Formats: sequence, structure tokens, C-alpha cells
Amino acid sequence: MNFGIKKVAVLGAGTMGHGIAHVCARSGYETVMVDVKPEILARALDNIRGELGLLVDKELMDKQDVEAIMSRISTELSIAKAVKDVDFVIESVVEDLEVKKKVFKEVDENAPSHAIIGTNTSTLSITELAKVTRRPQMVVGIHFWNPPHLMPLVEIVKTEFTSDEVIKITRKFIEDIGKVPVLCKKEAPGYLGVRLQAAIVLEAVRMLEEGVASAEDIDTAVKMTLGLRYPILGPLQIVDLGGVDVFYYAYNYLYNATKEERFKPPKTLKEMVEKGKLGVKTCEGFYKYTPEQVEKIVKFRDEWLIDQLMNRGLLKVKGK
Ligand code: NAI
Repeated sequence: MNFGIKKVAVLGAGTMGHGIAHVCARSGYETVMVDVKPEILARALDNIRGELGLLVDKELMDKQDVEAIMSRISTELSIAKAVKDVDFVIESVVEDLEVKKKVFKEVDENAPSHAIIGTNTSTLSITELAKVTRRPQMVVGIHFWNPPHLMPLVEIVKTEFTSDEVIKITRKFIEDIGKVPVLCKKEAPGYLGVRLQAAIVLEAVRMLEEGVASAEDIDTAVKMTLGLRYPILGPLQIVDLGGVDVFYYAYNYLYNATKEERFKPPKTLKEMVEKGKLGVKTCEGFYKYTPEQVEKIVKFRDEWLIDQLMNRGLLKVKGK
């Protein structure tokens, strides 16, 4: 543990809150979990115990570790009492702006002045929440993915008020609980992950609606292509590997053929093609590469694909 954070309060013990409390306690933080009814808190503790049990079954921890982790979690019905001695608050109550504003006010009035107030909201304005407090510079988005005790990504969302120091501490905290932080430099709806996923989900539903393919085939197309690449390559690096020009011309064609605004290539792609930033073939695209790095990335990609495909019986080699 470092940077002064010892105790965390997780407000809301539902789908997300209990999992966030789980991961904080598992990482050694004293954690207080708050909800509105004792039975919700009791169920949350049961869920955490069950999730830890699975980690024991998978031999990732010993049975006695479970008790040590559970002993770090306390429960409270009063926000005022729960936050009085904490260093970090993670609000994860229902997705309702008025409820969250009330919670934020109560936290602000009762938490120590050094405490950071984070919110796990997926869609609501963090700026609006910050404004009800007397410490808007200490309010930050800390957006986990479901199930939070397993999914690695945590998005940090900076509002116009959030201080750089708070971003730094939040990033360290996320790393300390074994997660991977990314920074959303401004409050953009859907942050990073939700917005990226929206592009795919909405397009999949449109294709189904248009009768282009069956639900099964649309899902298979994702599992057998994008799904195989995405664990190791993000969309921008995939473009670098395939060729920025290739993607630009393909999307131009798609746009001209459909006249759908959503397929109009952003001006960045055009500018990159004009400047000869075509990806790995010119050693610069969204990233810069040396020829050695290109070789390494391609080899790593191919080895990864071979391993994945072999494990799943999807690589047929003649004669084998
Ligand atoms: P949930 O409905 O499972 O849990 C919310 C909990 O908040 C409930 O147990 C409820 O009793 C409690 N609550 C309501 N008012 C409260 C108050 N004044 N004080 C203390 N507790 C209160 O909802 P879920 O899914 O856990 O969502 C919580 C937050 O996490 C939302 O802001 C949501 O947008 C966000 N989120 C949800 C994800 C998901 O996949 N479910 C993913 C990422 C973020």
C-alpha cells in the first residue's frame, strides 16, 4: 500500500459495488461497504465469499486467505459514518443523478478533507456530481467493468475540475489493486470502452435488422475475426498493421456506397494517407516503429494466433 490510501468506502453493494469492494479488500485495503438495507449487504458479503471461493478452487489463493480478506470488509447503512475516516470513496449506487447528487453531498460533508471521491457511473455527468461538493478538484470518474473483481480495465475520467494530483493518485490506486488504468482526458459520453462497444453492437443490430445475416453468423463473424485479434491488438494498431491507406479507401468506398454518415472516414485518416503515414509499411501510422519492432509485433501476433487457434481446434494443417 502506498500514497496514503489505507481505507476505502464503496457506496452501493449491488452488481458492481460488491465486486469493487471485493477487489479492494483482496488487494489489502480496509474496505467499508454501504447500502440501504442489511439484507443487501448480507447478500453482497455472500457473493464476495462465493467469488473468492472460486479463486480458491482455481488454486489462485489459499482457503485461509479468504478469511483474511473478508475480515477487511465492514458494512454500514449510514454513509456519514462509513466515510468519516476513509481516504478514497467509490460511489456505485443506482444510476440516478438525483440519488447520486444526494450521496455526493453527504460524502462531501462527512469525509475527511483529503479524501478523493470517485464515481463508477457509466453515463451520468461527473461534472454535475463534482459541482454539489466543496471539493470538485477531488472528484474523479473511476469506471470499472463487470464483473469488477475480474475485468482488468478501469477507466479514469477527468472532469474540467479534477486535479492532476488526483488523477495521479487514482491511477496508482488502480494499479495497486491489480487493474489496468486508462485515462479519458475529458468527459466524453460512453468514455472509451462503452463507446467502442456501442459502435460494434449497434452495427450488429443494424445488420440483423437489414437481414444481412443471422444473429448466429454475425456473432460468429466477430468471434472468428475481431475477437481473436483484440486481446493483443487494439483497433488503431490493427489499422497500422493492415495499412492506413487500405482502411481509408475501404471506408471511403463504404461511405460512398451507403451515404451513411457513420461510415465517413474521419479527416485524420485522409491526412495520414496524404502524409505517407501508412502504418508499419512506412514505419509510422498511429504509432512509430523501427523495422525490428515491426518484425517483433508481426511474429508475436502470428504466434498468439497459432496458439489460440490450436487450443480451440481451429487450425487445420494438412496431413496432421
Ligand atoms: P445495482 O442496482 O446492482 O446496485 C446499486 C445499489 O445501490 C443497490 O444495491 C441499491 O440498494 C444501492 N443504493 C441505492 N441508493 C443508495 C444510497 N443512497 N446509498 C447507498 N446505496 C444505495 O446497480 P449496479 O449495476 O451495481 O450499478 C451501480 C453503478 O455502477 C451505476 O452507476 C452504474 O451505471 C455503474 N456501472 C454498472 C455496470 C454494470 O454492468 N452493471 C458497469 C459499470 C458501471
